[in-house]
Amino acid sequence: MDNDNSQSSNRAHWSSTFGFIMAAAGSAVGLGNLWKFPYLVGQNGGSAFIVIYALLLVFIGVPLVIAEITIGRFGQLNPVGSYGLISPKLKWVGAMGLVTGFILLSFYPVVGGWIIYYLYHSFVSFGENPDYAQIFANYTSNPTYPIITLFIFSVMNYLIVALGVEKGIEKYSKIMMPALLIILLIVTFRTLSLDGSWEGVKFIFHPDFSKVNGKTILVAVGQVFFSLSLGMGAMLTYGSYLSKKDNLFKSSISIPIIDTLVALLATIAIMPAVFAFKFEPTAGPALIFITLPAVFAKMPMGFFISIIFFTLMLFAALTSSISMLEGLVSYITDKGHMKRFGATTLVSIIIFLLGIPCSLSFGLLSHINIFPGKSIFDSMDFIASNILMPFGGIMLAICVGWIWDGGLRYETIIVRNQKGNPDVVTNGYVFNSCLKEITNQGTLNFPFMSAWIFIIKWVAPLVVLAIFIDNL
Ligand code: PFF
Repeated sequence: MDNDNSQSSNRAHWSSTFGFIMAAAGSAVGLGNLWKFPYLVGQNGGSAFIVIYALLLVFIGVPLVIAEITIGRFGQLNPVGSYGLISPKLKWVGAMGLVTGFILLSFYPVVGGWIIYYLYHSFVSFGENPDYAQIFANYTSNPTYPIITLFIFSVMNYLIVALGVEKGIEKYSKIMMPALLIILLIVTFRTLSLDGSWEGVKFIFHPDFSKVNGKTILVAVGQVFFSLSLGMGAMLTYGSYLSKKDNLFKSSISIPIIDTLVALLATIAIMPAVFAFKFEPTAGPALIFITLPAVFAKMPMGFFISIIFFTLMLFAALTSSISMLEGLVSYITDKGHMKRFGATTLVSIIIFLLGIPCSLSFGLLSHINIFPGKSIFDSMDFIASNILMPFGGIMLAICVGWIWDGGLRYETIIVRNQKGNPDVVTNGYVFNSCLKEITNQGTLNFPFMSAWIFIIKWVAPLVVLAIFIDNL
């Protein structure tokens, strides 16, 4: 038996398809949707960016999500083990995903910690006439407080994953994700009812193509990968807990749909409020932590909206970071060296330690640049989101499209009738292993199959490669 799959027989499974969808959509919906997407729309020409993002999402993101989940469900193992079952030579692709997981977990929980600080200050005022930019700079550059909130966030992350797939990840995703959607709707209704909010809606939906250039497309691709948690094995690991009876296509397709709806809704919840109070929509990363607290302070009922908004952010960040952690934990438990509790403890300690320099890179270590002009935090984000995840995506497409079982293909079965003339059985296909996995051995329908095959073999690897090379 393979070294990476010694425990596969007693592997956990989701208790329901709904549980899987909530967990996987929880992984996808995160800071990427609530924080990055709205400010990217603000900076990159409103709906011009949305259109580019949507095209990349439909033609690259969605097909790759299906491919990644398929590998996991096929292997019923962690990323290294599942890729290894396709070909032992491919284990490194899974291993690269684990490395990406460590890198993501070094900076993502730092922001999770900031959210805890802002949630706390939704209850406890910042004082009279606060300078929000200064508050943010003071907090993030402080050598101890952000590390304490990082620790609190890491403990929450740890506890959910330590409780296991069904009793931890699935149970809490089933609570947090619906709560998140309800809160987001409340915030959206509140902002849309503000005087002057319509300007913000117009800003979002007015396409300003003058802001679009090569870099915009690059940013959009990075955002598709980051937002869908693609190319590093998180979706693969969640797919590995799907049962062989589930309808893989139907379950997978809901993930990008929920993810995109939340990103759009978050933009509609945030931008109009920014406009209503005459703040800058192009504020960038500062939008959530500097502009929004100022907006909430001016808004009637802002105190309440601030509490629920930062609760929403916290839930979104948690359901994403648990999926990053689960990939690493599943690798150790599948190997059989440690039980879940020990594995989660070990990995959580390591990532907490990795988080400390990332947190300090806003203060004490701000002079250290790993890439020119990029602090430790920014460099980690850059390596994971702009290099490793897209590269993982290219490898994912190549593995599924070209390597697994000789590559994606399906052939129509030709059956001869009694006279010996060929009768084409239109719905009878000879599937390769990957297609068999998606269609439950040919028993389920797989809509858009031919288009999917074409995209996985050609479009996804070539487009991402082109953008990737351009980027480097
Ligand atoms: N999709 C998450 C977000 O949009 O915030 C980020 C993420 C989660 C990336 C899980 C990778 C991952 F494995």
